[in-house]
Amino acid sequence: MEKLINILKFSEEYLKKYSFSKPRLQAEKVVAHVLKLDRISLYAYFDRDLSEEEKVQVKNFLKEMARNRKDFEEILEKLENKNIHDIVTEKENHRKENLQILSQSIEYIENNGIENPKLEAEYIFSHVLKTNRLTLTLDFTRKITEEEKKLIKEMIIKRAKDKKPLQYILGEEEFFGYKFKVDERVLIPRPETELLVEQCIKEMSEVKTPFILDIGVGSGAISVTLGKEIPEAKVLGVDISEEALDVANNNKELNQAKNVKFIKSNVFQNVNYKAFDMIVSNPPYIPEREYRDLMQEVKKYEPKLALTAEDEGFYFYKLISREAGNYLKSGGVLAFEVGHDQAQKVKDMMEENKFENVVIMRDYHQIERIVIGKKK
Ligand SMILES: C[S@@+](CC[C@H](N)C(=O)[O-])C[C@H]1O[C@@H](n2cnc3c(N)ncnc32)[C@H](O)[C@@H]1O
Repeated sequence: MEKLINILKFSEEYLKKYSFSKPRLQAEKVVAHVLKLDRISLYAYFDRDLSEEEKVQVKNFLKEMARNRKDFEEILEKLENKNIHDIVTEKENHRKENLQILSQSIEYIENNGIENPKLEAEYIFSHVLKTNRLTLTLDFTRKITEEEKKLIKEMIIKRAKDKKPLQYILGEEEFFGYKFKVDERVLIPRPETELLVEQCIKEMSEVKTPFILDIGVGSGAISVTLGKEIPEAKVLGVDISEEALDVANNNKELNQAKNVKFIKSNVFQNVNYKAFDMIVSNPPYIPEREYRDLMQEVKKYEPKLALTAEDEGFYFYKLISREAGNYLKSGGVLAFEVGHDQAQKVKDMMEENKFENVVIMRDYHQIERIVIGKKK
């Protein structure tokens, strides 16, 4: 240990030896810088002992000044510039490496026949790196840790080789701007269904406290979104699958949709309330014979219970159209999402069951997707 006053003296002598002008002042600046003190306050710490490390730092600084024949400020500026330069190069290196891993991943996904490989790879990267896809490459200057690289690799393989849907890999999907946790127990909510929800919101705009029933909730996408978008509503969601209800309840919590309740029910079986303002359903609607032709990744990962329906896919439309009248107020709304060639037949079923003003609406691909009408 050496006292501060002695180190100051030593430094002053050292600089004097190298013919520095104002060696005392320069020495004070060096010592104050190393100890992170004001030069003036040094004198309050004359008795302070310097650690070995601090002494080495002072000596190195003095040596650097002597070698370059430059005073304190010039050496400090030089060191700071060097640090900044090192940081910039390091960041640039990370960026290059990260861009390379990204482009290799895109190539790998593409070579395995997945559409939109760039988008899919970016989603995986931004998920693991906890950043936004749009700013992903701007944030690319940080090092991707070995753990993160391993996770990215596993996800890329699951997507490219196993053809697992991206949403199940990431464990989430956005619907109507809300985040929903999804796994293989539920259908991945589709963008078309957002149109159905939009129509439901419009239909309920004039109702003060809408009571809404959602049949076949799956992830809870429709119920939770309606609950959030119409805060004064009371939403009851039913599903026959306990596994789906578990996911739906998690999504209710996640989005804090306090006005939504889920119960297990085979369609209307456990529904006691009989004065709903609206019944909405996106039921299973794929006929068995079409199921065989579905994309491999849908068949392998999405629950069959959420996809297929008997009676050429019309089982739920028939049953719900027939029974809905018993659960709706007069003037209440029945809104369905339907398969690509089912709209007209579903409209007929609703009209046969005394629904009026039944309209068909198309989705973004111009496919007839929504059928909506009112109880007389
Ligand atoms: C096409 S998914 C719709 C999921 C969600 N509403 C959506 O739009 O993303 C149909 C849902 O109906 C449920 N379901 C199937 N049979 C049912 C039944 N008999 N009663 C109630 N729900 C049923 C399935 O478990 C599945 O969650």
